[in-house]
Amino acid sequence: MRTRIVAGNWKMNTLPSEGVVLAKEINQYFKSKDKDAKIIICPPYTHLYEIANQIDQDNVELGAQNCSYEKSGAYTGEISADMLKNLGVKWVIIGHSERRSYYNESDEILFEKVQRVFESELNPIFCCGEVLEQRNNKNHFKVVKTQLENVVFKLNESELKKMIIAYEPVWAIGTGITASPGQAQEMHAFIRKTIAEKFGNNIAESIPLLYGGSCKPNNAKELFGQDDVDGGLIGGASLKANDFIEIVKA
Ligand code: 13P
Repeated sequence: MRTRIVAGNWKMNTLPSEGVVLAKEINQYFKSKDKDAKIIICPPYTHLYEIANQIDQDNVELGAQNCSYEKSGAYTGEISADMLKNLGVKWVIIGHSERRSYYNESDEILFEKVQRVFESELNPIFCCGEVLEQRNNKNHFKVVKTQLENVVFKLNESELKKMIIAYEPVWAIGTGITASPGQAQEMHAFIRKTIAEKFGNNIAESIPLLYGGSCKPNNAKELFGQDDVDGGLIGGASLKANDFIEIVKA
């Protein structure tokens, strides 16, 4: 059985004081409950120190949304993987489509970032996914395969065992349009097959594949019910404790 995971990507939302309240609500709810899923929350950088002190990471784990591809030095405004590690962060989202498109993060840069994440003994949540035009042109499998080849294929097996891959069709992010369970399953099965061809079945079967893109309490169960969908990377619905909790329960 693969680990079930629900991760919340808060993006640039909530003030630090609000974020602490949200994190504590989620932590409190799951504190004394048996749960089938690993829960990860990824608040903005400014929230991490306080939230790390306020939650129990055996219960809810902490992730960041990005890190620098440099290790340290004169890079004004950047945050290194070592800094995140020192705060108690465990996960780092790398390659989110918003970073790829708004901040021109290329596969080369993303590969460097993943290297820094592993060097700091953190774990990447690596995102891949196509834009609508690529899907309409039936290029979506090719696009996702190239994203995997340029980053994931360059890693070794022990690194693969420490990562999560999130499939996030860009056309479904923040749009209210969700990939159908069939579309999600089709791509997840393709990603698993692609990983299996390169690294073998054991690794491919063990790697958690999360779906992201307008996943909500009312569609999570059906999406998570697909064979190759091991959970979700949740944007908007991770900002309301109740919605996020309902998604975890699904
Ligand atoms: P939404 O759930 O808001 O569509 O965002 C998905 C996402 O980008 C998670 O990383």
